Amino acid sequence: MKADELRKMYVEFFCERGHKEVASASLLPENDPTVLFTTAGMHPFVPYLLGEKHPQGNRLVDVQKCVRTGDIDEVGDDTHLTFFEMLGNWSLGDYFKRESISMSYEFLVTKLNIPKEKLAVTVFEGDDIVPRDEESAKVWMDNGLSESQIYYYGREDNWWGPSGKTGPCGPDTEIFYDMGKEKCSPNCGPSCNCGKYVEIWNNVFMQYNKQIDGSYTELKQKNVDTGMGLERILTILNGYTNVYETELFVPVMTRLNEIIKDRKMPLREKRIVCEHTRAICFILGDDKHIIPSNNEQGYRWRR
Ligand code: SER
Repeated sequence: MKADELRKMYVEFFCERGHKEVASASLLPENDPTVLFTTAGMHPFVPYLLGEKHPQGNRLVDVQKCVRTGDIDEVGDDTHLTFFEMLGNWSLGDYFKRESISMSYEFLVTKLNIPKEKLAVTVFEGDDIVPRDEESAKVWMDNGLSESQIYYYGREDNWWGPSGKTGPCGPDTEIFYDMGKEKCSPNCGPSCNCGKYVEIWNNVFMQYNKQIDGSYTELKQKNVDTGMGLERILTILNGYTNVYETELFVPVMTRLNEIIKDRKMPLREKRIVCEHTRAICFILGDDKHIIPSNNEQGYRWRR
């Protein structure tokens, strides 16, 4: 599977289900002053998640460029990236949990032919503010997952956003792929970092707005924000073990090997050079291109 085929399949699948395609926004957030970069698919949609009408309707699909510097120290492992593409489908006050989960399941299992036994999902276990998400668990089971494939976690794992101090957020259900490794302990599950479970997609049920005082209010409408990591799903569909084996990285690694010739460089370091090079190329190539400087985005670029 090539990256382009996958982007196309994803967009077509959701267009057939009433979504309109929206182009990727800039890496410099236009609609969200709370972040320096577009770290997630949701930033360009903030006004619409808050209730403003989107000119293209209330079901949208996109492939959004993202820069997530929060993961920078994990880069060099098999799956974490600072720059990545996020495949997203959006409901702005239209469908909610049942339809969203059912479409994700259908895309993964029927369209991409991922065996359902390879999936594990997590749902929000609930707390004093927001109840346990039994509804999402039920929808996963109605679609064909068994109870043993569903895990309940708290805010650390199953609550998304906001990235900045305020804004739309909510509980999510996350979809993981089992890479087939042995469990690292009897408690090994999707929240474990041993590499057995790789997160491929999350469906955020954006129903809340976090206020500056830390409290939550209900949004005017119930939204769905999903995000699937293009590089990760491509790795899985091609039977690779890490993102650097995909066509998105092979040419970069080949060029790096040509440059360093016989000099020894640990694999992790090579991966970091490739990943950061790709990230800064996208930052520099962005429409609102950013140049290295001492502050804000330019400082992150330099670092
Ligand atoms: N679904 C997004 C994410 O995972 C939020 O926009 O980052």
